[in-house]
Amino acid sequence: MSKSYSVAILGATGAVGTELLELLESRNFPVSNLKLLASQRSVGRTLSFKGENLPIEAVSDRAFEGVDIVLASAGGSTSKTWAATAVEKGAVVIDNSSAFRMKKEVPLIVPEVNPQAAANHQGIIANPNCTTILMTVALWPLHQVKPVQRIVAATYQSASGAGAKAMAEVKTQASAILQGQTPVAEVLPYPLAFNLFPHNSPLNDEGYCEEEMKMVNETRKIFGTEQIRITATCVRVPVLRAHSEALNIEFETPFSPDEAREILSRSPGVKLVEDWRANYFPMPIEATGQDEVLVGRIRQDISHPCGLELWLCGDQIRKGAALNAVQIAELLVEKNLLRPAIAYAPSKKI
Ligand code: A2P
Repeated sequence: MSKSYSVAILGATGAVGTELLELLESRNFPVSNLKLLASQRSVGRTLSFKGENLPIEAVSDRAFEGVDIVLASAGGSTSKTWAATAVEKGAVVIDNSSAFRMKKEVPLIVPEVNPQAAANHQGIIANPNCTTILMTVALWPLHQVKPVQRIVAATYQSASGAGAKAMAEVKTQASAILQGQTPVAEVLPYPLAFNLFPHNSPLNDEGYCEEEMKMVNETRKIFGTEQIRITATCVRVPVLRAHSEALNIEFETPFSPDEAREILSRSPGVKLVEDWRANYFPMPIEATGQDEVLVGRIRQDISHPCGLELWLCGDQIRKGAALNAVQIAELLVEKNLLRPAIAYAPSKKI
C-alpha cells in the first residue's frame, strides 16, 4: 500500500485555506488524517473534506503532534508564532506567508522552476508571493533559452490577495454603489469596487511598496541570480480572484515573439491564449479556477531590439498560492523529502 500522510492546514477557513482543502481532495493527495486549524474565532465550525465534516481546531502546540505536513496560510505573524513549533514536532511546513521567504536556509519554490531547491530544506519551505509565482512560471522557460536581463512589471491584482474578507467587501461595496449608497472600506484601505489603487503594503525609502520588492527579491532568489534587474508597479484592481501582469522583458539577445510563443506553448504550467484576429487574450475572469498561467499578447517591444512585451493572468488563490503549495507537498512526497527535519532556528539575516 502506498504511504499516506497526516496533514494540517493552518488558516483553513481563509480564502487560500479553503482552496488548499479542495486541492488536497481533487488532486487525491495521500492524506491519512487532516487537521483544520484556524483562530479561536472559528472553533465550532466545520468544513467538508471527502464527504466528511471536519471540525476547525484552534491552533496550539498539541495540534501539530503527529503531523507530517503543515500547509500554512494564516498570515506572517501566525507563521512566525507556530512554524518552529510544528517543525520541532516533526512536520515540514509549507508556508504561504512572507515570514521566511528571504531567509537563506529556507527554500523558496515554484515547482516548475526550481524543484531542486526542496532537497535542502530544514523543515520550512516558503511559497512565493502570488505575483512572483505567476511571473516566474511564464518567464523561466524563456530565461532558459535566452537570459533575461531586465523586467519592467505592472500588476493588476485582485481582491483575493487581501483575503476572503476583502473579496466579500468588494461585493458589498459594488452592491452599495449600485444602490446609490456610499461604499464602506473596512478591510481594504479604500473602496475598491469601481476603483483601483496602488498596492497599499508599506513603502520603502525609494518609494517602492513591499509587494513590488517581493517581485524583485523573490524572483532573483527563485531564478538563482542577483543579476536580473527588476522594477514593478503593483496595483489593486476590482477583480475578485485572478491577478494580471503586463511584463516588459529585456533579454541578452533578440527574442522573436514566434520563438517565445513556441517555447511557452510547451511549457509546464503555462497556457497560451492568443487570437490576434479576435483581439482575444488572457482575462482574469477566464483564469479564475484554472491551474495554468494564461499568457498572451506576446509582441516585440518597438522601443528595444531585445525586448518582448507579454500579458498574463493567473488565479491568485490557486497557482498564486494554494496550488503551488500543494505542488510543493507533492514534490516532497515524490522525492521522499519528508525526512525528520533539523530543528529550525531562523537566522536573523534577511
Ligand atoms: P479565522 O477564520 O479563525 O480568523 P484570509 O487570508 O482569507 O483572511 O484567511 C486568514 C486565515 O488565517 C483564516 O483561516 C484565519 O482564521 C486564520 N488566522 C488569522 N489569524 C490567526 C491566528 N492568530 N491564529 C490562527 N489562525 C489565524
